[in-house]
Amino acid sequence: MKDVRIIGTGRWIPKNQLTNDDLSSLVDTSDEWIRTRTGIQTRYVSTEENTSHLAAKAAQRAIQSAGLSPKDIDLIIVATMTPDGAMPSTACLVQKYLEAENAFCFDLSAACSGFVYALATATQFLQADFYNTALVIGAEALSKVIDWEDRNTCVLFGDGAGAVVLQKSKKKGIETFYLGADGKGDELLQCPGLPLQDPFAKEKQRIYPVEGILPALTMKGKEVFQFALTIVPACIQRILHQGRYDLTDIHHIVLHQANIRILEGVARKMQIPKEKFYSNINQYGNTSAASIPIALDEMREQNLLKEGEKVILVGFGGGLTWGAVLLTW
Ligand code: ACO
Repeated sequence: MKDVRIIGTGRWIPKNQLTNDDLSSLVDTSDEWIRTRTGIQTRYVSTEENTSHLAAKAAQRAIQSAGLSPKDIDLIIVATMTPDGAMPSTACLVQKYLEAENAFCFDLSAACSGFVYALATATQFLQADFYNTALVIGAEALSKVIDWEDRNTCVLFGDGAGAVVLQKSKKKGIETFYLGADGKGDELLQCPGLPLQDPFAKEKQRIYPVEGILPALTMKGKEVFQFALTIVPACIQRILHQGRYDLTDIHHIVLHQANIRILEGVARKMQIPKEKFYSNINQYGNTSAASIPIALDEMREQNLLKEGEKVILVGFGGGLTWGAVLLTW
């Protein structure tokens, strides 16, 4: 098996900050409720840049940090649940903005597990030896699908993008991954798309477009919380087993940033010191597929990741989906 490593990271956060106090002027909530239940203090909302713009800016920084040019990129995957549209893919738009004309491009839909799924997918393209360098991006403009009158969800999410450059290498990098899904849990997290049309029906019975219906994200919060507290430890155990490592060998664990209480619950359940987990949920809220690569970029910038250290990434979310990657930095 060929070794494949992350050689660059980048992030892009839109400029409009939305604090908990700002939200309390939109819905019946408070800074105290949001902070104590979720750990979130602020999030960012994109009013001008669509998902592809956020993704391209994060990607540009990742390519720069890898010391490469966009022409070096063979593959672009954008993990997102909020693409600019159904067609073209957000990845194709990123290719256009970057002028990364040598890349083939596609989007990947696995909600908050999207980045982990995309990293595993890109790794295999590189290991198959046909391609050298991939750009893996997690990007979301979740504000497009939030019902800003629903306090159960609107306080939780934020917009942003993170990207990594992955390249074949002589040094160890991505060591093993584990992906899973359970479609029976579809109702726990949903964001509906366009309804079916009936061209056979009389005109007045046609159902599209349906006025006044938002394709808003809905969530059964308590069930999702329980799912996360079960699946994240299972992912960590599984990936350690696959990699033949022990928890003591692992230097950093980067969970999808959904809620600080999920992180604390996992740490408690598995008796892992909290310091092993990176968290930035307080600043950005839940940015779905973007949360792990944003965290990785911040960690690299803060010099927290030392060469040779073992890192576990864990994603979980709508689908239901989940997945983990174990890598050497
Ligand atoms: N402000 C004030 N009150 C609120 C708010 C709010 N923003 N939201 C809900 N409430 C109220 C509820 O209406 C309820 O009131 P009631 O008792 O009068 O009915 C009360 O607060 C308690 O609500 P609970 O749902 O019991 O609160 P809980 O402690 O479970 O916290 C939360 C809710 C934060 C959503 C929690 O369930 C959670 O974190 N779940 C996981 C969510 C998550 O991680 N989602 C994303 C993961 S997957 C992905 O990333 C897509």
